[in-house]
Amino acid sequence: MRDRTCLAIVLAAGEGTRMRTSVPKVLHMVGGRTLLAHVLDAARGAGAPEIAVVVGPDHGAVAKEAKAVAPQAEIFEQSERRGTAHAVLAARAAIARGADDILVMFADTPLIRSETLARLRAALADGAAVAVLGFTPANPQGYGRLLMRGDALVAIREERDASAEERRIGFCNGGLMALAGAQALAILDRIGNANAKGEYYLTDAVALAREMGLKAVAIETSEDDVRGINTKVQLAEAEAVLQRRLRTEAMEAGVTMIAPETVFLSADTKLGRDVTIEPNVVFGPGVTVEDGALIRSFSHLEGARVGKGARIGPFARLRPGADLGADVHIGNFVEVKAATIEAGAKANHLAYIGDASVGAGSNIGAGTITCNYDGFAKHRTDIGKGAFIGSNSSLVAPVKIGDGAYVGSGSVVTKDVPPDSLAVERSDQRIKEGWAKRLREVRALGKTLGGKKKK
Ligand code: UD1
Ligand code: MG
Repeated sequence: MRDRTCLAIVLAAGEGTRMRTSVPKVLHMVGGRTLLAHVLDAARGAGAPEIAVVVGPDHGAVAKEAKAVAPQAEIFEQSERRGTAHAVLAARAAIARGADDILVMFADTPLIRSETLARLRAALADGAAVAVLGFTPANPQGYGRLLMRGDALVAIREERDASAEERRIGFCNGGLMALAGAQALAILDRIGNANAKGEYYLTDAVALAREMGLKAVAIETSEDDVRGINTKVQLAEAEAVLQRRLRTEAMEAGVTMIAPETVFLSADTKLGRDVTIEPNVVFGPGVTVEDGALIRSFSHLEGARVGKGARIGPFARLRPGADLGADVHIGNFVEVKAATIEAGAKANHLAYIGDASVGAGSNIGAGTITCNYDGFAKHRTDIGKGAFIGSNSSLVAPVKIGDGAYVGSGSVVTKDVPPDSLAVERSDQRIKEGWAKRLREVRALGKTLGGKKKK
């Protein structure tokens, strides 16, 4: 198949009305990526370097996302919604370039796997002019039915146009289709709109190909592969399917999960071997966890790298730009953002480290805050190696703490601290001996320490 060229046409001109949303349907997310991005990735995975995306009018945001995910994608506009075949023909110029295989994909069907697309392409390589994905849904209502004669696919009948007998067929059209490039335009140009909806149905390609003496086949797949999304409920169902797939892949690659059903991954989450993830952890996009790291319960990570053997959580928050080296410890109620924390450094309790660097082996005490924002701009805090920041310190950025320096607890540090020195910023402690005892005595007499009688 490697020598065959391939064009994927992704139909994204659908409306989002049933989603009850102001966001275009295909820009909704599952597994931390848009529906459109999943489909474009699957197309690339199936070896489709040429990609055409068909968008509706006023769909600048959809076109922008397509370009961001697949910069080589060509954008075509379908100005009026007149059916799936009409949408495919919006990309006529791309089809006319004559790729060997043409894959028609729906942007609202994000769980399609590259392997399944490869099977469609293999059917074309075997001589079919049209290959469709068939599946047997629990409830076939609303789907086109596949009319088979033995192994041959004879036609697809949309439900609205089907007879009562045809509606009893359980084998349905998944929607995606592969067309032989050499015949694609000849077939598509013959499709008319004489049907219940008055639309140009891509599904008519099957019967027309047969009339032309060409072969059409159905490739069977699972319902999950072709799950389309029209409502927020279906969006959540697709998320659940995707999460199951991602967890299974992670565990098969050597990740330990104690309660996998409570761990939420993104499609791009990278987890090394012997990583352990405790229950109730959420991975937003862009997280890499290296070998042997432990992510404890109730942690939330996004845009972060966790180095080998590091321990995160419970209740930790790693935000974009958190870059943690080997054996770093980030404990409960610690938030890290846009900060590099080098090997072996620790922030075990209640801290905020943002726009900062922390050198190897440093210790950040409980309650330490990098005061990175002055209401106008963000500033950096740079802490050297082997430094010790006492509990409840405020490091007012921009500020530098040198290698091996100490900051006394409770200090508000506004000036740079040289290496190996101590910075303490607080008033001297006063001791009044016997004061507490005296207090208790006068209180017992109903007086205050000043000698006045209590009212
Ligand atoms: C389609 C199939 C049906 C199949 C079902 C599987 C056709 C005619 N029918 O029906 O056999 O069982 O998918 O889910 O193909 N689109 C456009 N422009 C248009 C019309 C559609 O871009 O003018 C896009 C939609 O955004 C969507 C896709 O094509 O991504 C499918 O359209 P949709 O209306 O959902 O088709 P179904 O009725 O679901
Ligand atoms: Mg649909």
